Parts: sequence; C-alpha cells; structure tokens
Amino acid sequence: MINIRCETLPDYTVIAEVNTLTFGQENEAKLVEEIRRSDRYIPELSLVAEIENVVVGHILFSYIDLVDEKTLQVLGLAPLAVHPQFQRQGIGSTLIKAGLEIAEAKKEAIVIVLGHPHFYTRFGFQSSVAYEIESPFPVPEDVFMIKTLQSYRKNYKGKVVYPSAFHRV
Ligand SMILES: CC(C)(COP(=O)(O)OP(=O)(O)OC[C@H]1O[C@@H](n2cnc3c(N)ncnc32)[C@H](O)[C@@H]1OP(=O)(O)O)[C@@H](O)C(=O)NCCC(=O)NCCS
Repeated sequence: MINIRCETLPDYTVIAEVNTLTFGQENEAKLVEEIRRSDRYIPELSLVAEIENVVVGHILFSYIDLVDEKTLQVLGLAPLAVHPQFQRQGIGSTLIKAGLEIAEAKKEAIVIVLGHPHFYTRFGFQSSVAYEIESPFPVPEDVFMIKTLQSYRKNYKGKVVYPSAFHRV
C-alpha cells in the first residue's frame, strides 16, 4: 500500500506542493529547497511516501549542530508533511520509522525534533532536557525532543544550533 523511497529530482515539485498544502504556507517547502542546496543535506534521508505511485508524504532529516566544547553534527527531523487527505492512515509513522532505520544504518547518534509529544514519544523520542541538550527556541521542555540511536554517547550534549535556513520558517 504505502511505498517509501528516497526522493529523486522529478519529485521536487510534488514535495513542495505537499509541504505547501499541508502547512498552508510556503515556508516549509522553501526550507526543504534551501537544505537541499546546502552541505547539511543527506540525500538518503529525504524520503517520500507514495500511494499508487502518487507522492502523499515527505520527511527530511538533515544535519544540525550540537554545540558544547566541540560541535557535533546530529540529525534534525524537519519538516514532516502528510497530505491532509491522507493523514491518520499511518503514513507519517511509516516515514518516521523508515528514516530512523536509515539513521541507525548510517550510525548516526541522535535525532532531534520539535513537535507534538503525543505523536513523537511513540517512536522513542523524549524531552531533550534529560540528555542535557538545550533547545535554541523558547519552547516548553516536552516539545523539544531527542531520540538516541545505538551510536549515542554521553558527549552528545550542549546547545542545538540550527542552520540559518531554519530561522526563516
Ligand atoms: C503530524 C503528521 C505528520 C502525522 O502524519 P499522519 O500520517 O497523519 O500520522 P499517522 O497516521 O502515522 O499517526 C497518527 C497520529 O498523528 C497525529 N496526527 C495526525 N493528524 C493530526 C493532526 N491533524 N493534528 C495533530 N496531530 C495529528 C496524531 O498524534 C495521531 O495519533 P492519534 O490518532 O493517536 O491521535 C500529519 O498529520 C501532518 O502532516 N500534519 C500537519 C503538519 C505537521 O504538523 N507536521 C509535523 C511537524 S512536527
């Protein structure tokens, strides 16, 4: 039913359309395009969900900075969009799980997300404060979350710094 695969160049237009429709603004679509043009882009972690060969969802994981004594690159999950007519059918969850599997295979250490705890805790995300990871945004503790992967070590702590493309969302 749902097919998950990496994005390819011909998908760029429909990915922008799905993001714009889902969020009701162009900011997220532009964010995806800016990240794609940057050195933070990870081609195998920009995934689309298809139903009957039509793209109905998209997820992007890209590199963001975790700054302490050293700066480490970690994964940021954003944006995630499922076409409004296809929400609550498991597509968003399938995209997240597929991305997390790829992140594990790439031996990434952590994934960071700003989102609804009700949704993301089911995939193992927890408030970042328990890991001494600080949000750059003035948001409630429970919405800034991390998921540790097998390569996580205790030196993954500090303040998260997003590339400038995110400041325009
Ligand atoms: C959030 C979103 C990605 C979930 O994708 P989905 O395919 O609908 O989700 P799934 O079917 O896999 O999982 C269902 C869960 O998604 C969440 N969800 C789905 N639609 C939602 C909506 N309109 N508002 C809030 N949460 C929603 C709920 O937590 C729901 O769980 P529940 O049924 O136990 O309440 C999708 O609804 C979406 O694109 N929303 C708008 C954009 C957005 O908020 N993106 C996330 C940014 S962090």
